[in-house]
Amino acid sequence: MADTNAKLTVNGEEYELPIIKGTLGRPVIDIAALQESGFWSYDPGFKVTAPVESKITYIDGGKGELLHRGYPIDELANNAEYLEVAYALLHGDLPTADQKADFFEKIREHTAVHDQLRKFFEGFRRDAHPMAIMVGVVGALSAFYHEDLDVSNEAHREITAIRLIAKMPTLAAMSYKYSQGEPFMYPRNDFNYAENFLYMMFATPADVDYEKNDVITRAMDKIFTLHADHEQNASTSTVRLAGSTGANPYACIAAGIAALWGPSHGGANEAVLEMLDEIGTVENVPEFMEKVKSREVKLMGFGHRVYKNFDPRAQVMKETCDEVLEALGINDPKLELAMALEKIALEDPFFIERNLYPNVDFYSGIILKAIGIPTSMFTVIFALARTSGWISHWLEMHSAPFKIGRPRQLYTGETRRDFVKVEDRK
Ligand code: SDX
Repeated sequence: MADTNAKLTVNGEEYELPIIKGTLGRPVIDIAALQESGFWSYDPGFKVTAPVESKITYIDGGKGELLHRGYPIDELANNAEYLEVAYALLHGDLPTADQKADFFEKIREHTAVHDQLRKFFEGFRRDAHPMAIMVGVVGALSAFYHEDLDVSNEAHREITAIRLIAKMPTLAAMSYKYSQGEPFMYPRNDFNYAENFLYMMFATPADVDYEKNDVITRAMDKIFTLHADHEQNASTSTVRLAGSTGANPYACIAAGIAALWGPSHGGANEAVLEMLDEIGTVENVPEFMEKVKSREVKLMGFGHRVYKNFDPRAQVMKETCDEVLEALGINDPKLELAMALEKIALEDPFFIERNLYPNVDFYSGIILKAIGIPTSMFTVIFALARTSGWISHWLEMHSAPFKIGRPRQLYTGETRRDFVKVEDRK
């Protein structure tokens, strides 16, 4: 725990603030002693604040390194299945062969959803954004599992994690089918996780000869892994904060989905494709870049709060993009445009000075589009994949005593003043 102390002198009082080192990364300064100082710490956007201790994911933004339970993201994405990574996030290590078989079987047993959930979908307009549906439907799952909602019960927590990871592909595919006016497809438990998702997305009851595509399946599974977890990002922090109130896990994950939807976070993959559509051709890139530099628009898919170097996920995503487009024989002009944009940005002082590099969202949309997934589903896929990370953080929080998250503020509003009757107000 504390090795040495930082010293803070304020108002003539000196405070000893313990410095605590982790296994990797920056040590932290425990500021609990400020409680007695009459001051709050102030850090809008949590740029220099660590609200939790965690063993799940480590990011070195300067080196562009991302480890899940110590395993490098590129080695996981290129060698493991997403469910193996989910197991490691949940349990600490990659599964043995027996643990893998058992976990995969447990997931297969819970891929179906209560048939009454169909009625929930029918309440939405057909043109509802699928993220709006997912926020609603995932939160509604807590209405179907009354018997397993005691968050203090470890067995309840465990089965909930299985249910959420197992059912997200089914619900995600249902949100797509609903928007298409097509019948929902039941999961097929002879398919693996990514195959099942693609089947529920693209097969119809009339398909007598539905064929899996191994290249697309492998790419989809990699995309799930590349989005599985990412330390204390905005949506994971939302899940933890909601969880700190004792809220049920389905409600917490629904809160995470809502936070992820923002274009500065998980909604960026959808925004990248819209941006590429807006730019149109490589000839228009210089004009677009001027709009970025004048802060009229942001270069979506670029920049990151933590990575001040390449996002290691973007590099794997780019390789996967090349593989998929080649395997499908697609010559997508958007890929050329994205590569031209990336090249110009990486050579431009505006981006270099601000350490702006492609992030996980820059190439993912191009692959998803090549697979035939509509732009509106991109963030749903991000949410599907991130569920294993979110629920792992929720479980980690519940594995030790915790307090409700309740930040304070710097108040700059009115000082006390007397009530004025409406007839006397100016
Ligand atoms: C994800 O946190 C996570 O881990 C998230 C995530 C995960 O897996 O959970 O990695 C997933 O959300 C990836 C990020 C996806 N978002 C985008 O691609 C949207 C575009 N990116 C920006 O909105 C921005 O880069 C953020 C939100 C990602 C990060 O913003 P920060 O850390 O608050 O950085 P900043 O706004 O302080 O930027 C520093 C400077 C500013 O310029 P100045 O005012 O100092 O002159 O860089 C500029 C910003 O204006 N800048 C950009 C830019 N990103 C930052 N300028 C143009 N285009 C951009 N994309």
